Amino acid sequence: MIELEAVRAETPGTQHRVHLNNAGASLMPQPVLDAVNGHLDLEARIGGYEAKAQEDDRLLDAYASVARLIGADPSEIAFAENATVAWQWAFFAQDLKEGDRILTAEVEYAANYIAYLQMARRTGCVIDVIPSDASGATDPHALEQMIDDRVKLIAITWIPTNGGLMNPAAEIGAIAGAHGIPCLLDACQAVGQTPVDVSALGCDYLSATARKFLRGPRGSGFLYVKKDRLKDIEPYMLDLFGATWTGPDSYEMRSDARRFESWESSPALHLGMGAAADYALDLGLDAICARAFGLAAGLRGELVKLDGVTVRDIGTEKCAIVTFSHERVEAADIASALRERNINVSASRPASTLIDATARALPNIVRVSPHYYNSEDEIETFLRELRERLS
Ligand SMILES: Cc1ncc(COP(=O)(O)O)c(C=O)c1O
Repeated sequence: MIELEAVRAETPGTQHRVHLNNAGASLMPQPVLDAVNGHLDLEARIGGYEAKAQEDDRLLDAYASVARLIGADPSEIAFAENATVAWQWAFFAQDLKEGDRILTAEVEYAANYIAYLQMARRTGCVIDVIPSDASGATDPHALEQMIDDRVKLIAITWIPTNGGLMNPAAEIGAIAGAHGIPCLLDACQAVGQTPVDVSALGCDYLSATARKFLRGPRGSGFLYVKKDRLKDIEPYMLDLFGATWTGPDSYEMRSDARRFESWESSPALHLGMGAAADYALDLGLDAICARAFGLAAGLRGELVKLDGVTVRDIGTEKCAIVTFSHERVEAADIASALRERNINVSASRPASTLIDATARALPNIVRVSPHYYNSEDEIETFLRELRERLS
């Protein structure tokens, strides 16, 4: 069980704000701040290269922590500056040719879909969207029907930007595995919110960011690459960290997933991401998930009672992301009015998930994303202020 008082005491931001934008960027807990600031201080005192050399073991520990968080081996983890870059590393390393098919989800995130379009223009590969079932989740049965020997990648988002949905990632991973098709899972909004086990998910690649539900620093994320794939996957771009220049006409890639990284990066942010993984693991992902999902379910239950409000969530199993619109008041106006009252939520545009938003004729929507450290009182405060703003 989560000790609410203790986790709030370790979260300085809770003194100033009702922060319900954890799907945007969560409030960092003190150990994460200490890890980041401690390393920056060290760099300032003894020099950047020297600080990295001194903290090398702790940096390796950060890889081990992130690996533990998702049930992977440290050699399968590469640190990136965000989830998009991590995802793109895996995606643009795929050897797609004219006529090859990428299968993806209706709820796919804009950045991923833009990359599919770019790849389609460059290579002539084809993007096919797996239909959603009646609940709004990507339909594994429909996926099964779509598979043929031209399918060279299955890439889906587990928890989409908005809509509260949890896609059946493990079922999709199992289908991909059964057909030997690489599976790329966007777990950007799942990591830190729900238990993640790459073996159970059956994915070959998984990308995530640190700043969202994991509560790490902005500007950090990671890619998981399954060991089997490391045998033959080559990054689209390699530098002298990812590979060694072995002769005038030759180079040799690193044996681990870090071949995707480049030489220069931020040790402070990496240490912060490792601290965030340790923090989540110490609390326990089951306990985190139960409390965050419970707060969101309570919130959803209250929002549906409000006049003029339409809750826009889909799927059968819903996560800690709650979305709604109002018949009269624009989403951005609701978010900014609440911010003036020190309550943080975000507004989401249809272009973030264009296919899903078009199918559901979604307007701009408000996204409220509680986390385990939010209190029931904060949810009440949010609802009270919202009712006032909408009356
Ligand atoms: C589903 C999903 N995937 C990927 C991303 C991109 O993450 P990042 O901003 O860390 O690149 C987001 C960001 O909102 C997201 O919602």
